[in-house]
Amino acid sequence: MSTTLSLAQEREAQYLFPTYARTPLLLERGKGVFLFDSAGNRYLDCITGIGVNALGYAHPRVLAAMRDQARKLIHSSNLFYNEYQGVLGERLAKLSGMERAFFTVSGAEAVEGALKVARSLGQRSSPDKIGVVALNHSFHGRTTGSLSVTGQPKYRAPFGPLLPGVSFVESNDAAGLASAVNANTCAIILEVVQGEGGVRELRPEFLTAAAELAREYRACLICDEIQCGLGRTGKAFAYQGQGLQPDIVTTAKPLACGYPLGAILARGDAATALTAGTHGTTFGGGPLACRLALEFLDILDTPEMYAHIQAVGAYMKEAMLRLAHKHAIVKEVRGKGLMLGMELEKPAKPAVQRMLELGVIANVTHDTTIRMLPPYILEEKHADRALKALAKGLKAV
Ligand SMILES: Cc1ncc(COP(=O)(O)O)c(C=O)c1O
Repeated sequence: MSTTLSLAQEREAQYLFPTYARTPLLLERGKGVFLFDSAGNRYLDCITGIGVNALGYAHPRVLAAMRDQARKLIHSSNLFYNEYQGVLGERLAKLSGMERAFFTVSGAEAVEGALKVARSLGQRSSPDKIGVVALNHSFHGRTTGSLSVTGQPKYRAPFGPLLPGVSFVESNDAAGLASAVNANTCAIILEVVQGEGGVRELRPEFLTAAAELAREYRACLICDEIQCGLGRTGKAFAYQGQGLQPDIVTTAKPLACGYPLGAILARGDAATALTAGTHGTTFGGGPLACRLALEFLDILDTPEMYAHIQAVGAYMKEAMLRLAHKHAIVKEVRGKGLMLGMELEKPAKPAVQRMLELGVIANVTHDTTIRMLPPYILEEKHADRALKALAKGLKAV
């Protein structure tokens, strides 16, 4: 089926919910770190479908696994066993330090399930133990529960009333967190590096305080690793290396190489809170999705891959810091690994528009932050190209 950009725009304007302010590009195919549009233009992709296409495009091992499994079995439901779900559960448990997994189709669905786990554990001790403490600037998804704990009022406002018992505190404010958590708190939810909130890292001492409060009040510590996990910051999970052991981890985005798959991972009581019949999903953990996830983890989980992400990420960040010194408009450069943000004094849209004209795709998050989530296969020569475009983009603001 072939279409043109203007036909796609006309059809969508008539037949789709007008929920997306799309960039006017019709993307047709990808190869390695590059995307190609319907006009044949090539773009260096530094956003990877919002952190999903971590291995770039048309990776030969992903294609081979996809072809092979698609021939055998794509979907079978959770009424039956499939060859891969248990293997993937074991793999993720070992990688994360958790004990059990529940597979979902999206990030928001994983967060929903994590909240159900925390609430069901809370209910065991008291019907009032339903409180969730979340952070300002956080993002956990668009479904009703995940939206309830998303610390950005603009997303929540039109849909109230949402879940009761949710309170928000400022990131890195340990005293604020301590005054919000109490005996009725069933969960503290956080992103170790906030993504949609502008690529903001939580400080180690704040993370330690959150873990201690969770332990003291018998609340679940939920680390939402949907954007910052699975290699993005140069570690399997961003909480690793922070001395943190969450009770629940949510993951999704790059897990099945672009095929939809997420997971709730849990340990201790949280790992057994949901019992037969209390939770479920039709698509989650299908054979094709799980097979692709195993292929992804085989490629990701090597010392060489983590070292590469850390090295090329540090190379990019240093160059971004150098740009910050030259451009007064840059307020701050943040992030680690291949999750990087540059906050400007003004709205950042003109910068990413200019970058796009120069053949580099980045995006704006939180209005003033240019966000880069490049593929893990990025090389320094690609980073140089992205940074050249970024430098020109800054001049356009
Ligand atoms: C940290 C975080 N949590 C949850 C979500 C929601 O994931 P999904 O869009 O797959 O529902 C996102 C999406 O950007 C995210 O970044």
